[in-house]
Amino acid sequence: MQTELMRPDELGIFMAADLLRSGGLVAFPTETVYGLGAKVYNEAAVAAIFEAKGRPADNPLIAHVLGITGAQECGEWTPLAQILASAFWPGPLTLIIRRKPIIPRIVSAGLDTIALRAPSHPVARALIAACGFPIAAPSANRSGRPSPTTAAHVMDDLAGRIPLILDGGPSEVGLESTVVDATGMCPLVLRPGSITPQMLATVAGECQVADSVMRQLQEGEYAPSPGMRHKHYAPMARLTLVEGEDEAVKRVLLTLAKGRADTWVLALDGELRHTEGLRFKSLGRDAGEAAHRLFYLLRQADEEGVQRIFVKALSPEGVGLAVMNRLARASGFDIIQAAEFNNQHHH
Ligand code: TXA
Ligand code: MG
Repeated sequence: MQTELMRPDELGIFMAADLLRSGGLVAFPTETVYGLGAKVYNEAAVAAIFEAKGRPADNPLIAHVLGITGAQECGEWTPLAQILASAFWPGPLTLIIRRKPIIPRIVSAGLDTIALRAPSHPVARALIAACGFPIAAPSANRSGRPSPTTAAHVMDDLAGRIPLILDGGPSEVGLESTVVDATGMCPLVLRPGSITPQMLATVAGECQVADSVMRQLQEGEYAPSPGMRHKHYAPMARLTLVEGEDEAVKRVLLTLAKGRADTWVLALDGELRHTEGLRFKSLGRDAGEAAHRLFYLLRQADEEGVQRIFVKALSPEGVGLAVMNRLARASGFDIIQAAEFNNQHHH
């Protein structure tokens, strides 16, 4: 199959909507990452998403809608969903509520809940509007690869497997949406994103974060969000997080990374400054910029054949929690405590 790349102008949107209507797959830009869409009511088309991505059958998809009315078609709306959607839609927030029978089971991988999101990206919105039905879409990467933040990333992963990619330029946020269980009274964050627990608490009065957000699930342990079970966002290089004070982290990196051409060191600007002999790659000035750059850098590392990546841990506050959640999973929870490491390697 030939994969077309089209500008998201009137013709592009028309072609994309036409493909989706007839059961085809289309990759499209959103403000978070690129999505791989199918008509939510077409079981065969949804099955083709799992096939094209190589996605495990137990990992449910997100249904993309224009807003609250569209969401109410798909799930049992709740007072909490109303509060959160009113505050943050359209935007990078996914709400989990009970699934209505009209939505095929395969969309939510057999769960009795459904994930819903109203994206703010004008191309995503134009596409949903042109279709007139919700679009089921996970991120448009091969399963296990970092989510795509450009059309070129989608092409790298899915060329020959899907008919059409709409090119909307680089994604603004760069990390996937915040996923929140909105079935109860209090929001429960299952996957952190750029809409932070603090922001959710501001409108909902309180907010909980699933403890599995920063922890590795045990073999056979129940996963509140099935995506947490899978090794995710993995670059080809082995990735290690280094936690600790600037000076302590610097000492670890001088031991493990100095002078190695195949090794990258990722950190925020200003940290690890003037450390010679390290191949330093900037995550930007703050957690928001790190979110924007992370997946791009991980893919770039693959392209350049980087074998080893060390990342100086960010503070898990605000958007930093989302960045750290992705990094912890990309590393397979390979995390060095700098102070301890330096004690053991002292001589
Ligand atoms: O920003 C995003 O969320 C992007 C764009 C395209 O909207 N989508 C995305 O989808 O990143 P992806 O590949 O992460 O898949 C959906 C995530 C998975 O982690 C899945 O486990 C979780 O949402 N999810 C979906 N339905 C769920 C449900 N009923 N209960 C709990 N988690 C669910
Ligand atoms: Mg994904």
